[in-house]
Amino acid sequence: MQDASLIPLAPLFASAAEALRNARHVCVLTGAGTSAESGIPTFRDALTGLWSKFRPEELATPEAFERDPETVWSWYEWRRELIRQAQPNAGHFALAGLARRVPRLTLVTQNVDGLHQRAGSPHVLEYHGNILRDRCTVEQIVADRSDDARAGLPRCAACGGLLRPDVVWFGEAIPDEPMLSAAAAAEDCDTFLSIGTSSLVYPAAGLAEVALRRRATVIEINPNATDLSPHADILLRGLSGQVLPVLLQQVGQ
Ligand code: APR
Repeated sequence: MQDASLIPLAPLFASAAEALRNARHVCVLTGAGTSAESGIPTFRDALTGLWSKFRPEELATPEAFERDPETVWSWYEWRRELIRQAQPNAGHFALAGLARRVPRLTLVTQNVDGLHQRAGSPHVLEYHGNILRDRCTVEQIVADRSDDARAGLPRCAACGGLLRPDVVWFGEAIPDEPMLSAAAAAEDCDTFLSIGTSSLVYPAAGLAEVALRRRATVIEINPNATDLSPHADILLRGLSGQVLPVLLQQVGQ
């Protein structure tokens, strides 16, 4: 264990590794904390500098986009740039490694940055979409951009409709595929990992509740207490980029 702050957690690591070694199906839910060590600020933390005069509802709702698509697009272009420059961290890589060591792993992420995929995780369920994709507001499908330079706002190459970022805004529903697959995984899993999420935003936060009801072993990785903490079976208090590589090592081959 390289990091001295993790040494007192040794018995908890051993229990968590044992649960993972014995698991038939592991369900993992990740949140903004998982990308913090890659330098990606959370949605709220990113509202600094130029963006400090905006409230989240003014940038991440369908109403805001209808009212002022230029401002909403400049916010998303700015965040896209931050994300393009970021690299997956040791926690992302360890989760990709864990998927190769257990019989079945379902990875659900609330993050829109695509870093799990870049670290090699297969079949990631993107609960809140992906900021790097565009969606056509007319056809409601992921779309390519028209290269018509006169267009101003980005337009769909196929139909010319206005494009929007392919993310879930406040007040919008989770897309069916990730929602149903994640719910089925939470029902079926025998070990559930909640990593870097405040467990405040529903319906994602409800997945751990389903796993608890199904008597799965629930493990939380977070430096801070959350609403889930009192109910979790094992609490690994630390940064996911430090905790996950140690945990993976203990799970072994
Ligand atoms: N490792 C693990 N956890 C961390 C780390 C880290 N390095 N750094 C911070 N955390 C924890 C914090 O303690 C906090 O509990 O990550 C959590 C981040 O919480 P939120 O910012 O609320 O993020 P999240 O739970 O993903 O939010 C859910 O809300 O803003 C919307 O749509 C957005 O997907 C997001 C959703």
